[in-house]
This record gives sequence, structure tokens and C-alpha cells, in this order.
Amino acid sequence: MEIYSAIKNRRSIRKYKNDLVAKDTIRKILDAANWAPSGMNEQSWEYIVITGSKLAEIKSVCKEVIDLRMPPETERSEQQKAFAHWYSTLGNAPICIVQMTKAESEAARRKMVLESVSASFQNLLLAAHAEGLGTCWMTGPLAKADKLQAILDVPQDRELTAITPLGFPDEVPAPGKRLDETLQNKVTWIGF
Ligand SMILES: Cc1cc2nc3c(=O)[nH]c(=O)nc-3n(C[C@H](O)[C@H](O)[C@H](O)COP(=O)(O)O)c2cc1C
Repeated sequence: MEIYSAIKNRRSIRKYKNDLVAKDTIRKILDAANWAPSGMNEQSWEYIVITGSKLAEIKSVCKEVIDLRMPPETERSEQQKAFAHWYSTLGNAPICIVQMTKAESEAARRKMVLESVSASFQNLLLAAHAEGLGTCWMTGPLAKADKLQAILDVPQDRELTAITPLGFPDEVPAPGKRLDETLQNKVTWIGF
């Protein structure tokens, strides 16, 4: 897939088909994630690929997160109900991937590491899209990171950094409008 097409046509997918994804395809996507640039070439991203009963446990933590953020179920608008449903089911995705890195206490190192793992996650999203798969970069569930770490047996010297469902898309979302499409305000040119 042509790179500009992948970048522009990837969307966050919040509804998935049930079909499982071949392990070789997941490995290919993770290999792309592993080719990201990283500060001091530390490549400090790590991934957990989850399906089955542990995935159900993760979805139930996501439900807890959304229930904390929203009014009680009986008082929710239709839009809030739909969003809560997405969170508590992860759009029916058959797989989810959790990214983590070494926990860093020093601010400059943490910044470097978080930027590096973000580059890796974007690679993952674009590679999944190139394979016809959907993803949705999520940090919301990390509000319950301690619970997720316990479910996944992740030691305390690791920080969870992002999570995405993975599966074949069951929706085709419209692209969001670009703020400042002409880049007039977002880009300053010097010396041109
Ligand atoms: C760092 C980050 C965190 C995000 N966290 C969430 C999240 O917790 N829940 C969610 O539904 N979407 C989340 N998103 C997805 C954004 O809402 C989405 O990327 C944005 O609306 C643009 O839509 P698009 O990805 O289809 O272009 C996150 C995206 C990023 C980059």
C-alpha cells in the first residue's frame, strides 16, 4: 500500500467482525512496529497480544473506566450509550494489543521513551491498515492501568502506554475534518 494512502485512509475502528486474524499477520504488523525510530535506538517497546478469556477481562476493565466517566446507565444519552457499548466490548474485536515500556522516573528519559513507543504504535496502526485490519489507539483504559497490569501479569517496572483492539473492520468511518487544512497556522516556514 502506498504510504500516503495508508496515512490518510487509516481510521479508528470501533466495530469489528468476529473473524480471527492469522498469527503470521499479527507478527508482520508487530515487526513493522519494531522498525520504528527510537531515542538512543533503545527500541524499548514491548507488546502483549491477547485473545480469549483475558480479552474478556480487559473489556470488563474498559467498562469500569467508562462507567466512572459517564452518568449512570439509565441517564445516558443515545450517544453516550453507544460510546459506553464500544468501550465495554472494544467493538467486538477478537484480539487486543497492549503496548508497554520500561517505567522511567526521570522526566527527560520518560519523554524520549514515550515518543519512541508512540512512533512504534503508529507503525503498528498503519501496518494493520495495510493488511486490511482495523485498530483504535486507546489510552482511556489506562485510567485503570494497575488493574490491567495485574490481569496481564505485568511487573511494576513497566508502564502500559497504549492499547488497541485488532480485527477486521465492520464499519467504514468518515474521516474527521483536518484542522487548518492548508497548514497556514500549524506550520511556520523560515528562510524560504
Ligand atoms: C494518544 C491517543 C489516545 C486515544 N485514546 C482513545 C481512547 O481512549 N478511546 C477512543 O475511543 N479513541 C481514542 N483515540 C482515537 C482518537 O479518538 C482518533 O484517533 C481521532 O478521533 C481521529 O480519528 P481517526 O483515528 O479515525 O483519524 C486515541 C488516539 C490517540 C492518538
